[in-house]
Amino acid sequence: MSNVAVKSASTEFGEGSFKAALKFTADRVNEELNRLLPPVLEPEGHVVKAMRYAALDGGKRLRPFLVCAASDLFGVPLVISIRVAAAIEMVHCYSLIHDDLPAMDDDDLRRGRLTVHKKFDEATAILAGDALLTESFAVLANPETHADSNVRIALVQELAHASGAAGMVGGQIIDLRAANLSLDDSGLRRLQNLKTGCIISCACRSGAVVGKAPTELVTALGKYGIAMGLAFQIADDVLDVEGSSAETGKAIGKDEAAGKATFVSRLGLKGAKDYASSLVDEAIAHLAPFGAKAKLLKEAAIFVVERRN
Ligand code: IPE
Ligand code: IPE
Ligand code: MG
Ligand code: MG
Ligand code: MG
Repeated sequence: MSNVAVKSASTEFGEGSFKAALKFTADRVNEELNRLLPPVLEPEGHVVKAMRYAALDGGKRLRPFLVCAASDLFGVPLVISIRVAAAIEMVHCYSLIHDDLPAMDDDDLRRGRLTVHKKFDEATAILAGDALLTESFAVLANPETHADSNVRIALVQELAHASGAAGMVGGQIIDLRAANLSLDDSGLRRLQNLKTGCIISCACRSGAVVGKAPTELVTALGKYGIAMGLAFQIADDVLDVEGSSAETGKAIGKDEAAGKATFVSRLGLKGAKDYASSLVDEAIAHLAPFGAKAKLLKEAAIFVVERRN
């Protein structure tokens, strides 16, 4: 695999530590989301209030970071990658709103605040999620995101595939029905890859797509995303046992109570942590074609299993 298409990291993104780059991306994506989701007048302004409540202020913004860090490998300016990052974060925020609904995980706390259906009501939460999902595609399809319509179509395709029945939604339905499905280890891995890995992988791949990267480099970043996405979900499941609400900003101890299928329930805490560490190594191995330029992505893979929130 060649690395000739990998350009040097820009100075606006890619210098300094991972923590600094994550904070930098979070600040930029907050500004972008604020611009892309302006308040509107009532009565429909009510749903926009709920969209803004869900999308602004809070969250680690890991997926936006992954888009921007992957794009940066191909010399894409942040002003472009941040729009792609914001679109993917909209889908992530929609997935969280719906995941918290009484019909799904029935959670009252998210990002340290009331969940959207608690702050507003269930119908508003459903519609706010729907509208964030829809708006994400409007952002990707907008010529301001990329001058080349082929790139825009490829981005739409990436996100649609990662979000729908072949991705996040597919994983969520398996998650909800897991108790009746007697999943083996590979079935459980597939559940987690679909519900969480697909959008994380999509963030990595989309960063490369917007940089018109060669297919083999898009694929390498996608595989990195799948491995780190599974490690990320296992860490989330570990934090549900070992973490605190103060740290995670959400209720803990819910997975066991709900009988969720996780690698923690299957392998125990130590087994799950060991498995997650091996996935971090696997993720980092997929960064080989990028050499030292992938430093931040390497640190991101380590962060996902060491994080406390
Ligand atoms: C939570 O995702 C949902 C999972 C896939 C486990 P994050 O942990 O990235 O949530 P935020 O965006 O930081 O709130
Ligand atoms: C959620 O997984 C994955 C999504 C697609 C939203 P979880 O249900 O474990 O996420 P949290 O713990 O509520 O954030
Ligand atoms: Mg869930
Ligand atoms: Mg949940
Ligand atoms: Mg969880």
